[in-house]
Amino acid sequence: PLNIPASAAALFQDLPKGKWWGIIEYVQFEGFWYSAPRLQASLTARSNFEALDDDVILASCPKTGTTWLKALIPSIMNRTGEFKDDDSDDPLLKNHPNAFMPSLEMKIFRDTPNPDLSDMVSPRLFRTHVPYTMLSESAQKSDCKIVYITRDPKDAFVSFWHFMNTNVPPSLGKLPIDAAFESFCKGVYPFGPLQDHALGYFQESQMRPEKILFLKYEELKKDPKGQLKKLASFLGKPFVNEEEVDKILWRCSLERLKSLEVNQNGVDPWDGLAYKTYFRLGNVGDWKNSLTPEMKDRLDEITLKKLEGSDLVF
Ligand code: A3P
Repeated sequence: PLNIPASAAALFQDLPKGKWWGIIEYVQFEGFWYSAPRLQASLTARSNFEALDDDVILASCPKTGTTWLKALIPSIMNRTGEFKDDDSDDPLLKNHPNAFMPSLEMKIFRDTPNPDLSDMVSPRLFRTHVPYTMLSESAQKSDCKIVYITRDPKDAFVSFWHFMNTNVPPSLGKLPIDAAFESFCKGVYPFGPLQDHALGYFQESQMRPEKILFLKYEELKKDPKGQLKKLASFLGKPFVNEEEVDKILWRCSLERLKSLEVNQNGVDPWDGLAYKTYFRLGNVGDWKNSLTPEMKDRLDEITLKKLEGSDLVF
């Protein structure tokens, strides 16, 4: 097991530094940006996480639609084929989707290098924000399935800006979008640059489509039924009828989850964030309400350059 020094600061003092939003210190490791505690936990997970062949890992950069998948994947995997009309059999009724897919770096390996996972039932479901190269060797090499979700970087950025603004103490006031945009353009974003993150998983998914399913938020919004069927088949749990598809889409819809008591008033015990801040508009192209045409052009250019020579487009 990895030996973790008492102070994350000591371990990371030699790494390149950047400031997310001009205020939060980040360090760069193997091309990606992390806060020091997140990097420490990510390194521990890379070293110590033993993936099993029937595990499912949801991977993403923040604000790309992870919460939607955190609801969809357990609903697909754990369904019995019978659905009560009043949805009273739905675990989402009383739990935020975070509860069903624990985070490797934000929960499981956050406080300990050797977590006891013996009471997790098979197939185990996990989530992670780390880039592909930061996954443990067994997560990369075993037959466990990886579902990756990404999104137009402009919408992910704007989504994160709103998310941060609803979570900072009111005394700080509204955080300026310009400073956040500057750091996002430099790639200084949790687990960013988002484009490099997506490209890493995209290239792996092209080489091993049976191992990694690469999804886009925009495609899920455009063709939810088609994408959901693809996801269920990839996970080895194909749907037997349209009713199942409709039911799961409804149960996991933004509209429904947003209205549930648990998501309106609950707080995540691991990160202290109000559950309601995970649900906002869910619109494709919402960046138009916050970015100037110059910001749009600059970010599009950065994205194009990063993806040059690949088949990935946003
Ligand atoms: P917006 O801020 O654009 O509305 P993540 O889950 O990766 O943090 O991403 C958050 C984004 O996904 C937010 O986008 C949020 O509104 C949207 N979202 C959350 N739950 C969703 C759901 N069930 N269906 C569709 N979009 C959802």
